[in-house]
Amino acid sequence: MAMTDHALYAEALATFAELFDAALAAGEPDRTAMTVATATLDARPAARTVLLKHFDARGFVFYTHLDGRKGRELQANPHAALLFHWPRVRHGVQVRIEGAVEIVADAEADAYFATRARGSQAGAWASKQSEALSSREEFMQRLAAVEQQFEGREIPRPPRWTGLRVRPDRIEFWYGADFRLHERQLYDRDRAGEWSKRMLYP
Ligand SMILES: Cc1cc2nc3c(=O)[nH]c(=O)nc-3n(C[C@H](O)[C@H](O)[C@H](O)COP(=O)(O)O)c2cc1C
Repeated sequence: MAMTDHALYAEALATFAELFDAALAAGEPDRTAMTVATATLDARPAARTVLLKHFDARGFVFYTHLDGRKGRELQANPHAALLFHWPRVRHGVQVRIEGAVEIVADAEADAYFATRARGSQAGAWASKQSEALSSREEFMQRLAAVEQQFEGREIPRPPRWTGLRVRPDRIEFWYGADFRLHERQLYDRDRAGEWSKRMLYP
């Protein structure tokens, strides 16, 4: 990959970081909340909200259950789209990120899991994400059983609960403006791995 291509990707990441900071300063209720869209092998899309926990040049990471619906869909078809909307930044900003998905290293997931509140750690063991639940009591009982199982010691990361990293091959920034003069800046990577940047009609 040529230097200039790396430079364009670095520019896109720096723009994301700048807007992410601006979202904090602007008082966005949760700048880390993002939609993650998946597609099944028979091309059915599905979307839900997750929280962005980390981003760097390797990609954008969220945590979930591998056996939940999105976990299963992303293992069968490891491509995702992420979507942020920060209405309080400038005149409104949307960021769209698309790319291949990979599971983070165990050590990385362990380190993040260790920072979570104990209640969330127990919840990760107790939840059979996306499976049918007959009653809230059933979940509460599973939670109590987990608390008992790990009483007096640290709760380790459930092996099927981990991070998924989206490695961007397309990042688009949409900036709101008056009179529908919205601006769209697209950075994308071609099959040869070269990044380019262009404007799109709004
Ligand atoms: C604000 C918000 C944040 C959420 N964050 C996460 C998250 O980081 N990871 C996660 O697995 N689910 C998160 N959820 C729940 C998901 O939206 C979803 O209900 C769950 O992951 C099951 O999705 P699935 O059946 O498609 O796997 C969040 C929901 C909301 C509303």
